[in-house]
Amino acid sequence: MASVSELYEARVATGRLAPDAAQRGVLPVLDRLVRDLAAAPAAAPQRNGWLSRLRGTAPGPAPAVRGLYLWGGVGRGKSMLMDLVMEAAPLAAKRRVHFHEFMQEIQAALEGVRKTGQQDAVRPVALAVAQQARLLCFDEMQVTDIADAMIVGRLFQVLFEEGVTVVTTSNRVPEELYKNGLNRQLFLPFIALLRERLEVVELASATDHRQNRDEGGGQVWFTPADTAAHDRMDALWRQETAGAPTPPLLLEVKGRQVEIPQHLGRIGRAGFWDLCGKPLGPADYLAMAEALDLLFIDSIPRLSQSNYNEAKRFVTLIDALYEAKVRLIASAADEPERLYAEGEGAFEFERTASRLREMRDAGWGRS
Ligand SMILES: Nc1ncnc2c1ncn2[C@@H]1O[C@H](COP(=O)(O)OP(=O)(O)O)[C@@H](O)[C@H]1O
Ligand SMILES: [Mg+2]
Repeated sequence: MASVSELYEARVATGRLAPDAAQRGVLPVLDRLVRDLAAAPAAAPQRNGWLSRLRGTAPGPAPAVRGLYLWGGVGRGKSMLMDLVMEAAPLAAKRRVHFHEFMQEIQAALEGVRKTGQQDAVRPVALAVAQQARLLCFDEMQVTDIADAMIVGRLFQVLFEEGVTVVTTSNRVPEELYKNGLNRQLFLPFIALLRERLEVVELASATDHRQNRDEGGGQVWFTPADTAAHDRMDALWRQETAGAPTPPLLLEVKGRQVEIPQHLGRIGRAGFWDLCGKPLGPADYLAMAEALDLLFIDSIPRLSQSNYNEAKRFVTLIDALYEAKVRLIASAADEPERLYAEGEGAFEFERTASRLREMRDAGWGRS
């Protein structure tokens, strides 16, 4: 079984990765983690389950191997390094999931359990997660939703008790999570828990590797969003759809209908306001991302606090498209980095801008 260092150096040797001193600096921590996982007894939560423990017939699961909280700026290679941990970890019960998607899954499961009138609804949901994975890798831990903020402490407490090892990436140091969030004092124990159970490591690379990717191929970002941009979007649209009729695409999400104004097969087209000017949420954007391989977005405006809700939806939309590797062709008021230049929310937008940049690169998207 190769260590993370070995996997990393093999990729450097073949030129797939450029050597990066800061990334190399954290490899020992990743190696330690994988070694500990290999050495840990394969605690089977199924056998040492909570029911039998309640009955006093089984000891608790072995304590979880200390996990990792890898944080730093965008494009530094956090997700890439976490993927190497996933690859190197010598166990079958491992799972990698985007944190946002994971929390949606948790909230849906909670809704189900709450209907049964359980006192501690989080516990059975966490136990079900722990049954399936001894190593949980979360990409992009970020907490902005109060509903998530109020349950993560209890959720992770049970996961750790059940012997689950957590590895997570984040743009922020733990102390900055849910910053300025409502009822933040109730969230603080979660930060303490992360500090206790995870090794917190900063990936302070000088390089944003996303900017080093090859440019080339057809233009997919047209700025400013003037008539010239619109004409070029139209030309590309005709090219993609070969002049076929493009009726609206209606998606059924949680019993509601969500519409993309034009589509042909898995190619869709919508204006910014169609997508982000209505009270749509993550589930709607995930459904769109699932239904499409290519999305045209017309006229993305400059974003700021004055259209904060639209901007927030746009961030969620881009996350969904990015995760599903949907290709994007857009006209916009400006370059991604300058769409949300300042004010509250600008920090969160850095990641979106970086993703938009990556989505513009040649070779992006579902093949
Ligand atoms: N050392 C490296 N050499 C070349 N490309 C890299 C290197 N590290 C990361 N990348 C690439 O750069 C992009 C950004 O890396 P990623 O892991 O997504 O960053 P982060 O999660 O920190 O935002 C990805 O496409 C990744 O494969
Ligand atoms: Mg990442």
